[in-house]
Amino acid sequence: MLLAVLLTVGALITAFLKFPNNSHPLHDTPYMKSVSADKFGITIQAEDPMFNEKEAKDLLKRLGGEVDAVYYSEEFLNFKPQMFEPKFILLLAGIAVASAGGGYFTWNKLMYLPPFDWMMQQPRVNAQMKSDFYEDGFGMRMPVEGTVARGFIPYPYKTSDRADSVGKYLVNPLLPTKQVLELGKKKFFTFCTPCHGNFGNGDSRLAGQFPNPPTLHSDKVRQWPDGAIFHVVTTGQNVMPSYQYQITREERWAVVHYVRTLQRALNAKESDLQ
Ligand code: HEC
Repeated sequence: MLLAVLLTVGALITAFLKFPNNSHPLHDTPYMKSVSADKFGITIQAEDPMFNEKEAKDLLKRLGGEVDAVYYSEEFLNFKPQMFEPKFILLLAGIAVASAGGGYFTWNKLMYLPPFDWMMQQPRVNAQMKSDFYEDGFGMRMPVEGTVARGFIPYPYKTSDRADSVGKYLVNPLLPTKQVLELGKKKFFTFCTPCHGNFGNGDSRLAGQFPNPPTLHSDKVRQWPDGAIFHVVTTGQNVMPSYQYQITREERWAVVHYVRTLQRALNAKESDLQ
């Protein structure tokens, strides 16, 4: 905007005031038109007090070629800048007001009229915001019944389902690779050892202050399928809470592998030595 205004004013000054005045009577002469074709010309300025027009003409004529006297025009000699004429100042002020007004209208009004709309100004609800759009005033909505979130597989069993009855329907999708065991160990140490102890013996320092967690090395748990342990971790069992929100599905299966590792370590067979 500023550049446009400055350019406009500059152009006006140049057009109306002939400023800078770079015209010269010499420019309009036949001499100027042919000087480039005839290779060269000579001009003598008549401002010197010793200048004598007749002698200068004679000298040039003797050198050959055409001799012309060129005079400043009336208009040129009488030229006065009109910078401070009220008309011009009024015009400048008018242009300033018009361009400022145009700019103000464009940036503050026009850009906000439809269809120019700012996306940031569209109606929207942020988390926890209220909304008059819904009857109950809550901006956050419950998922439609039966909706399954992307990447989330609903767990089909309830806490009341017994581990030994539903466990056989669940299969561990992970192989006990080094990474899986390391992940399982990490999660076991974070979430299980506070109650079950570092090796799953049920001997953590909580012992005696909380219903004693059972050992994970009982014949019962050792003979359970992987799915039964997964079920207990997922839904909880009696006083043991559910860990389905703290530990992802994959991590829970990795923990099951780690529990298996602990069990095998405490009941190692001769063949495990290799
Ligand atoms: C807040 C303490 C606590 C934490 C943490 C905890 N458990 Fe338990 N867990 C218990 C208690 C108490 C029981 C016994 C519940 C009962 O009475 O049936 C139990 C039961 C179990 C059982 C069933 C044992 C059986 O004999 O019925 C398994 C398997 C088990 N927990 C695995 C885990 C795993 C794996 C973790 C880690 C993800 C974990 N628990 C975290 C307290 C805990």
